[in-house]
Amino acid sequence: LFLSPSAVAVKQRAMSQKKIFLVIIAISTVSLLLHHGGHFSWPMEAFHLGCPSLRSHPATGLKPKSTNVAFLKTHKTASTTMQNLLFRFAERNNLTVALPVQACSHQFCYPRVFTSHFVHPHTMPPNIITSHMRFNKAELQRLMPNDTIYVTILREPGSMFESLFSYYNQYCQSFKRVPNGSLEAFLEEPWRYYRPDEKDSMYARNTLTFDLGGDKDRPATDVAYARAFVAEVDRVFSLVMIAEYFDESLVLLRHLLSWDLDDILYVKLNMRTLSSKRSLSPGLPSKIRAWNSLDARLYDHFNASLWRQLSALGPACVAREVRLLRRAQDRLMKSCFGEQMPLLRSASQIKNKDLRPWQPIGKVDIVGYDLPVNLSHGFSSQSQELCLKLIMPEVQYTRVLLRSQSLNYRRNYQLRSPQQPRTLQQPIRTVLPRHQGEIKNCWILNLAIHFDQD
Ligand SMILES: *[C@@H]1O[C@H](CO)[C@@H](O)[C@H](O)[C@H]1NC(C)=O
Ligand SMILES: *[C@@H]1O[C@H](CO)[C@@H](O)[C@H](O)[C@H]1NC(C)=O
Ligand SMILES: *[C@@H]1O[C@H](CO)[C@@H](O)[C@H](O)[C@H]1NC(C)=O
Ligand SMILES: *[C@@H]1O[C@H](CO)[C@@H](O)[C@H](O)[C@H]1NC(C)=O
Ligand SMILES: *[C@@H]1O[C@H](CO)[C@@H](O)[C@H](O)[C@H]1NC(C)=O
Repeated sequence: LFLSPSAVAVKQRAMSQKKIFLVIIAISTVSLLLHHGGHFSWPMEAFHLGCPSLRSHPATGLKPKSTNVAFLKTHKTASTTMQNLLFRFAERNNLTVALPVQACSHQFCYPRVFTSHFVHPHTMPPNIITSHMRFNKAELQRLMPNDTIYVTILREPGSMFESLFSYYNQYCQSFKRVPNGSLEAFLEEPWRYYRPDEKDSMYARNTLTFDLGGDKDRPATDVAYARAFVAEVDRVFSLVMIAEYFDESLVLLRHLLSWDLDDILYVKLNMRTLSSKRSLSPGLPSKIRAWNSLDARLYDHFNASLWRQLSALGPACVAREVRLLRRAQDRLMKSCFGEQMPLLRSASQIKNKDLRPWQPIGKVDIVGYDLPVNLSHGFSSQSQELCLKLIMPEVQYTRVLLRSQSLNYRRNYQLRSPQQPRTLQQPIRTVLPRHQGEIKNCWILNLAIHFDQD
């Protein structure tokens, strides 16, 4: 075949253009892979395929993720861990998290009943809401998008009450009056120490019922109230998680919201040291249940309903997802902290006061992690930020989110109204330090975590 010189030149040019095109394709493929398959994405191991959808919808895996979630954060129930997970999900997906106004501190002015006045205007309209509040359905429904999914979490009343009693021992007057801080003495004659209308009395009786907006002091004999209250909670909340079966609850949550495994990874937050926990002597659990009868009823109902949902999903399927979750979690911990896991320290040993978890007065000892000093080597700042956020205590994370959302809000506001006054343009320092030296300091700061699930 003969080609004229000009034809050869044309063909060569076409070939080199093709080469360039292929190189570009290759580069973008690699960068796409690097971008998405980086440090913290795990092979899904056909995660979507094994388990049938909880809802009748045929293709859970292809359904878009639900992004509008109201999580009622209850007290002493592993809810801080859930909040951290939701904060991270929101940041990854550019969602807005409703946060409290400064006057409310990091909670929505708990124990007052929630109203939208407690929500910071820079965090509206929200996709997610998760900070402590006393539940108010009507007000939340006005605030949140109409396809919002409601979720909460409960804990077994015996261990929960023991935890409340020890955690709030010096704050709640009903507990403070008890001689020798004895749980037995309190349960022997609760009405001797308990005052229903006193400050912090919600920690001393039916705390879950109170958080859910109910009447903690309804007598146990008012069975109709208890039944109606449980039915109402059942109607409003699509999922009631159970702290004792946290990973199983997360599997249900993942299916409910069509989320990925990556979306439910967590590190346990907010724990006491072993020495400040105690096991209950025989007879105490039933006294606790009698004193907190509304909570006990809620717990029994929703524990049963959780197990019905798990069995509908299939025990083998649930077990498999739990296994995958724990394996992914192990890998994540190793990527973040290497072989040397962070050392647990009690709060009193943590030097930096600003980052120390809230430490109740008395015998309770809250633990935090002492992070290895030289972990920052070999981390991209992106993965570093994830590791940091995974273990960031509630108050600090709330502050970081509020700053970054305010910044976004102001940017958008400026785009909409270019002639606004200068005062709104002040830069706010929000993000975690990016500079390598500063990042190292972050790790040295003994980032304290407090864990509230026991
Ligand atoms: C979030 O917003 C950033 C910046 O506007 C954008 O680059 C990114 O793609 C967005 N991510 C998602 C998941 O929407
Ligand atoms: C939710 O609100 C949108 C717009 O406000 C409306 O179009 C839609 O029908 C509503 N959906 C439901 C289920 O109420
Ligand atoms: C409190 O504890 C002390 C020492 O353990 C004991 O002697 C005392 O009787 C206790 N008081 C009550 C009211 O239980
Ligand atoms: C929760 O329900 C399951 C299934 O009925 C039961 O086996 C388990 O003991 C219950 N857990 C608690 C803490 O009551
Ligand atoms: C830093 O890391 C190396 C291993 O990567 C370890 O041998 C060394 O002891 C660490 N140094 C400190 C101060 O922790």
